[in-house]
Amino acid sequence: MKIIHTIAELRTHLAAFKHPAFVPTMGNLHAGHLALVRQAKPLGDVVVVSIFVNRLQFLPHEDFDTYPRTWEADCQALDAAGCDVLFAPSEKELYPEPQAFTVQPPTDLANMLEGHFRPGFFGGVCTVVMKLFACVQPRVALFGKKDYQQLMVIQRMAQQFALPIEVIGGPTQRSDDGLALSSRNNYLSPAERVEAVQLSLALKAMAQALQAGATILPALEAVATEALEARGWKPDYLTVRQRSNLQTPSAAELPSLLTHSGLVLLAAARVGNTRLIDNLEI
Ligand code: PAJ
Repeated sequence: MKIIHTIAELRTHLAAFKHPAFVPTMGNLHAGHLALVRQAKPLGDVVVVSIFVNRLQFLPHEDFDTYPRTWEADCQALDAAGCDVLFAPSEKELYPEPQAFTVQPPTDLANMLEGHFRPGFFGGVCTVVMKLFACVQPRVALFGKKDYQQLMVIQRMAQQFALPIEVIGGPTQRSDDGLALSSRNNYLSPAERVEAVQLSLALKAMAQALQAGATILPALEAVATEALEARGWKPDYLTVRQRSNLQTPSAAELPSLLTHSGLVLLAAARVGNTRLIDNLEI
């Protein structure tokens, strides 16, 4: 695996390839990231992974400074997973001056759910991904469904800017108990780690209720929220949405969406001080 820190060297090295497949990350890699790398392997003639903890997508009170940085382990894991090029620019390399041009995603998609609770988050994500796309010039880029809304935002961005890049989603990788893998799981105490599985169980319970005929979505969401609150969680949202646009389905649309696998259940909640997200397509 070749490790590259500058945009100039990346350009020179990638000039020999026609079809780069790209997996952007913020490092602290786990099996979820590595599954995307393996998925990328047959999709390109070179697999490029980036590690860059992007300041623009963190709010002032969030964990930018303490975000786990595990360089040595990440390099070893990427090499073993089949990564060909690791692009790890410094902050000075990617943002040599304040990034004054930014990508502003549309409010209908980016100001709800994660964007509502983390204002500016998707603008920060789109801006860095656009810049990484300009550096790598991939033909295919892979993003995890774990961050469902992020995947949709990037797909819409690529489509609206006519980027010549196919943006593909990879399935969420989970621990044996069902907890979605996440770098932030490292923050959980042993007791919180045991409790954390309740988020995916809450989504499963909502799915069962829908499949059993529940139609009043606000009531369904309230029951799920209160159940987690009773266990000491602080939920931001547990919600039923249409997969196509993440909007709330009307009662009239619900039966057909259920029959045609058109729904996704999304959740974000805090256990202790750690904010976890998860989702379930049904
Ligand atoms: P990061 O959280 O490091 O995630 C990098 C990629 O791994 C994202 O596409 C994310 O959805 C995917 N991923 C994380 N956990 C996963 C899991 N359990 N299963 C499958 N895929 C998983 O997401 C970001 O970084 C940043 O916002 C980034 C896109 C790199 C822009 O800075």
